[in-house]
Amino acid sequence: MALTTELSHQGVGDDVDRRTEIEKLQWALLAHRKAARALRTNDRKDQLLLGVCQSIVSQKPYELAWVGFREEDDSKTISLQAQAGSKVDYTDHLEVSWAEDSPLGLGPAGACVRTGKPVIIKDSAKEAVLAPVLERAVSFGLQSIMAVPIFNDPRPLIGVLLVYATVPNAFGKIEVALFEGLADDISIGLRNIERQQSLDDEISKREAAQQQLGDALRATIEAMSRTMESRDPYTAGHQARVASISVALAEKLGWSQNDKEGLYLAAMVHDIGKVGVPADILTKPSVLTPLEMQLVQQHVELGYQILKDIPFPWPIAEMVRQHHERLDGSGYPRKLKADQILQGAKVLAVADTIESMGTHRPYRPALGLSVALEQIKRESDVSLDAEVVSAAFALAEGDNPLQAILDARHV
Ligand SMILES: [Fe+2]
Repeated sequence: MALTTELSHQGVGDDVDRRTEIEKLQWALLAHRKAARALRTNDRKDQLLLGVCQSIVSQKPYELAWVGFREEDDSKTISLQAQAGSKVDYTDHLEVSWAEDSPLGLGPAGACVRTGKPVIIKDSAKEAVLAPVLERAVSFGLQSIMAVPIFNDPRPLIGVLLVYATVPNAFGKIEVALFEGLADDISIGLRNIERQQSLDDEISKREAAQQQLGDALRATIEAMSRTMESRDPYTAGHQARVASISVALAEKLGWSQNDKEGLYLAAMVHDIGKVGVPADILTKPSVLTPLEMQLVQQHVELGYQILKDIPFPWPIAEMVRQHHERLDGSGYPRKLKADQILQGAKVLAVADTIESMGTHRPYRPALGLSVALEQIKRESDVSLDAEVVSAAFALAEGDNPLQAILDARHV
């Protein structure tokens, strides 16, 4: 009878143990699953570690989780990176070390970092006798503790994950194995963030370098523009004003930032070929003879020759060559027609006409913006592109930046 009772008791005991084991495993599995989700959804190191700790402690009876990193300082510090849980006060002013000869290194975290192996405290109340450092955990009701190492695949060890439960014996072999797997996932997550970070840094550096190159290119073109105009004070600022008008037109036409940049640069040097035209012809205060006109007209081809070997990411040289071409073939130097002319050159043609008529010339005073607008209206769809002309009228009828651009002696 006694034997039967004993057997019976033993059977009940087995069931309880099995249930407890299953329960423990469920805690660990649920915590692991939630933490794995936190690993996937965070893209910053601090958020990732906090997310993992929060996920673990959302599963009872885990009431505290923290992650510390192994430092290589003289004190061999384990620095806290993230912590969460109802018993998080435990980590206030917590000093932990992985030094063997320091009292701060005698706890599970220190031992785990030193050995690179998991450390389990089944019942901190019982083991505090051997390791006084556990008394603090006892005072917080943290009965079982598990420390698992975090490796930077496959080595070296970079830190440690601590999980505390308010019941004794919360961690068995299977639970430890699960949390070791989680520690590996943390390591992978941290590395991915580092990789992404260095990739982002590289992209930022390249963008900054590209910006610097773009600024240098712009400044060089502007310097070329000023150098060329210094020979011809009557038209000083002409190219800059044409550039401003061109960009305003392109803006109205919905051009991309990149295309506007190319157009701006082309406009800034569209008359650069005038360096080859004698200064007395450029500044002549009367109408030019046919021969002089021929010399002036050569500036487009010369401008093309000056620019054609510069590897611009836009067809700058070709836009410069075509800025006096006209839709109906009445332009020069090649008498191109409609579709043969680059869109940028069509914008330059309208901007150049507005600027030339809107400002004074050595041989005549300024005709004014309204006369210039009448002129381009007459030429719309004849020699000038109708869409570009419409854009000019849209500007004039709107904020009208054209008059302000014309009024600026040096834009
Ligand atoms: Fe020109």
